[in-house]
Amino acid sequence: MSTAEIQARHAKYVLTPWMAQGGLAAPVIVRGEGRYLYDADGKRYFDLASGLIAVNLGHGHPKVVAAIQEQAATLGYAAPSLFHDKRAELAEELSKISPWATDGEGCRTFFTTTGAESNDDAVRMARALTGRHKVLTAYRSFHGATGTSIMMSGEDRRWGGEPGPPSISRFFAPYPYRSPFHATTAEEETHRAIEHLERIFVHEDPKRVAAIVIEPVVGSNGVIVYPEGYLPALRALTAKHGILLVMDEVMTGFGRTGAAFGSTRFGVVPDMITFAKGVSSAYIPLGGVMVREKLASSFDARALPSGHTYSGHPMSVAAGLAAVRVYQEEKLFERGRELEAMIRPALASLAEKHRTVGDVRGVGAFFALELVKDKKTKEALVPWHGEGPGVMKNLYVELRKRGVYSFGKFNCVMVAPPLTTTTSELEESLAALGEALGAFEATLG
Ligand SMILES: Cc1ncc(COP(=O)(O)O)c(C=O)c1O
Repeated sequence: MSTAEIQARHAKYVLTPWMAQGGLAAPVIVRGEGRYLYDADGKRYFDLASGLIAVNLGHGHPKVVAAIQEQAATLGYAAPSLFHDKRAELAEELSKISPWATDGEGCRTFFTTTGAESNDDAVRMARALTGRHKVLTAYRSFHGATGTSIMMSGEDRRWGGEPGPPSISRFFAPYPYRSPFHATTAEEETHRAIEHLERIFVHEDPKRVAAIVIEPVVGSNGVIVYPEGYLPALRALTAKHGILLVMDEVMTGFGRTGAAFGSTRFGVVPDMITFAKGVSSAYIPLGGVMVREKLASSFDARALPSGHTYSGHPMSVAAGLAAVRVYQEEKLFERGRELEAMIRPALASLAEKHRTVGDVRGVGAFFALELVKDKKTKEALVPWHGEGPGVMKNLYVELRKRGVYSFGKFNCVMVAPPLTTTTSELEESLAALGEALGAFEATLG
């Protein structure tokens, strides 16, 4: 079958997430190897976004592939109530690399298949543990597309999920490039963001708040790195009011920020961590909630308020265990910092050369460019909220023409390569990004 025929069949029978379906055109990807995807015509694309910030090991890592093959041949499924060797081993590994390992507390993990489920389950556990019902999240956030997680998401994808479950309120978190608090320094931004949250508490009553759920680095909403001090202040504030702090590490986990978790990179100890994506390098769906031992032990005498057919699925945990071992053997949690040292200056130089690059921000191997019409006014190249990617689509086309895949939301484009990316691969792909930006800007007139 020709590529055009496959594309026509795809458009006719498949509903693609989040998009208006008319006129969709994408390459037909048939193979992945290392940092590259290959389409049905043999064209190669550097994966500058690790899929959806998930394929942290690059494509087809032989050790993870072998673990999946071996597991498929041994045991394809066992009910979650039956114990399983790799499930136990993976949960132990997660405890060892968790922020609770340092003082010997550790954690237990409830496995799911996706990030969204993990957030739903974390909220359910937080409500059971605290006896409170309210949950607070940031407006610039995405937490998934299931019943609770879509309502936890602050951004416009939430609108299609409304009206959803009640008792979820939202707040503004720091965004230094476009400060919601009219701050001019990082310290001011942190201080005012915490003050704003305290004001929200007055109206919501902190004694009714079970959890604050937050991405340690805002992911799909533009890779916003919070100013130093914000996450520690949030930790102190939640602790003061007996509110659980849940870090949504679905994107930031597993080396993305240059440490095992964003929490560890920023030195903040949450009460729970939700994860997915990078845990298995996305080869097989796997997610979960890591619950610090102090809290998890309270489920020894009462039932855990959640469960799924695929909780701790043997295929998923086999992939996860192999991936977590590779991260450690190949020192990939640390590799994010080396990539950061190369990506940051390269993107800063793109910002100098290109009139649309208003802001470059990120940490580890997790960066974004925010594109604007005018660097002085900071008017976004395409407006935020509800109107789709607009002209940004053309940038992704220009990238693909030059053999690079990435994605983004509204006026932000992701630069988040696999952690296994070599220096020359990175240089080549960032040069292509520069060329694509040039061609894109030429089309803007
Ligand atoms: C921070 C964050 N949380 C949760 C999710 C939802 O994960 P999933 O798509 O696996 O449900 C995402 C997805 O991009 C995410 O970025």
